[in-house]
Amino acid sequence: MKSSLKQQLLIWLLVPMLVIAPVAATIQYWLSLTPAKLELDHQLGDFAIAASSFLKVKGESIHFNMKAETEHLLRTDQVDTEFFMVLAPDGKVIAGDPALNTPEGEIAASELRYIDREINGRVLRMAIYGVACGQTPCQVRIAETLNKRNRVHTQALITTLLSILVLGLTSTVVMLVAVKHGLKPLQDLRTQLAVRTFDDLQSLNLPHAPSELQPLITALNQLFKRLGDASAVQRAFLADAAHQLRTPLTVLQTESELALLEPHPKSLHPTLERLHYAANRAAKLANQLLVLARADSDGQNVAEFKYVNLKDIGAEAANEWSSQAIMAGVDLGFQLDAAPVYGHPILLQELLSNLIHNSIEHAGKGARVTVKTYVLEQTSNLEVEDNGPGIDVQERQQVLQRFSRGSQAKGFGSGLGLAIVNDIARIHGAKVLLTEPGHGKGLLVRISFRIDIPSLD
Ligand SMILES: Nc1ncnc2c1ncn2[C@@H]1O[C@H](COP(=O)(O)OP(=O)(O)O)[C@@H](O)[C@H]1O
Ligand SMILES: [Mg+2]
Repeated sequence: MKSSLKQQLLIWLLVPMLVIAPVAATIQYWLSLTPAKLELDHQLGDFAIAASSFLKVKGESIHFNMKAETEHLLRTDQVDTEFFMVLAPDGKVIAGDPALNTPEGEIAASELRYIDREINGRVLRMAIYGVACGQTPCQVRIAETLNKRNRVHTQALITTLLSILVLGLTSTVVMLVAVKHGLKPLQDLRTQLAVRTFDDLQSLNLPHAPSELQPLITALNQLFKRLGDASAVQRAFLADAAHQLRTPLTVLQTESELALLEPHPKSLHPTLERLHYAANRAAKLANQLLVLARADSDGQNVAEFKYVNLKDIGAEAANEWSSQAIMAGVDLGFQLDAAPVYGHPILLQELLSNLIHNSIEHAGKGARVTVKTYVLEQTSNLEVEDNGPGIDVQERQQVLQRFSRGSQAKGFGSGLGLAIVNDIARIHGAKVLLTEPGHGKGLLVRISFRIDIPSLD
């Protein structure tokens, strides 16, 4: 599987996050838990210190006088059970719950110690406060169950998990958006390249591409330029070769025609006819190649553009093709209305000639061919319609390619006619539509030229 840049970026961003997130969660958990636990310990310690004020030492005797209400106050807690105990220096319990009398060792006067002890099957948190009682200090012990502390733990855990979850989700979304946004220039580049046809060698236009992409765009543009230069050389060669071929082929055409007219042995007649036919085909092919080479050189053509009426182009074709159509047994008709275009008159004539020629050749004897020019909704249209066999829907795109002939093709064409039509339409910014005529069988070719609305100033 090909590695994807998007995937790699996401892995590089998400994997460290997966490592950092638990560490951050632990730190946050600890940071939110510790102060709360310390606070609870302090409360417990404060109680022990407060209770120690009821301890009275007079000489050898030690008294602990805490009123029942005060003890009640001390023991009141909504969540935990509270215990207290006062221990004399000799280890005797003076007051409170004897269960708290666990062996804890010496404690200094005014020292406060916190410990966890399991007493009667329950874990308690205990604060032990040392009070000066002669030589060895007395001890005030306050203990409570762990419910508050457990709540604090749960609370800290929920807070931590929630904040990590929110942080994780938002940063994942932000990363996805950022990666998508960051890769958008690449996507734009891909889109621009994907819609290109093989003959579109214009420089890429990505003004907002980031500086990292610029070298790639420059390299691609340089490549396009080199390809453009190479194809210009190729076109020039093609045009030259076709041009050079035209003269000897015209001679061959005329001479073979003359030879056919001169008295000649009967046995030679088929040979002369084949020679004449082949000379005609070769001359037509050379002519088509020349037109193709000319249609290709965009810049040169645009310089020769002027306002043309398709109606005039149609009228000229009527002159050129009427007698040929009669000879071929084809009923060629014209419905010509004014249709202005800004274009190259010679190339437009060539375009129409190719369409009429195709209709005569492929629709054949007895066919009806109609040439129309008209304006419809801001477009000038040129249409050639026949009632021949038409072209299968799945072949229509393909027959526009060079040297591509249909599966039902008749005659000895070279598959260049519709490619020439397509090229000439393209340099005029016109659309080519191959469809069937309204009445059914046949082929309708429509070339739609956009009429530019003249600006008002
Ligand atoms: N008027 C038409 N009727 C039916 N098929 C056509 C017509 N025009 C073109 N085609 C089909 O399209 C193919 C390509 O046309 P074109 O490029 O002019 O080449 P060709 O040299 O074969 O005429 C033809 O081979 C033919 O199959
Ligand atoms: Mg043709």
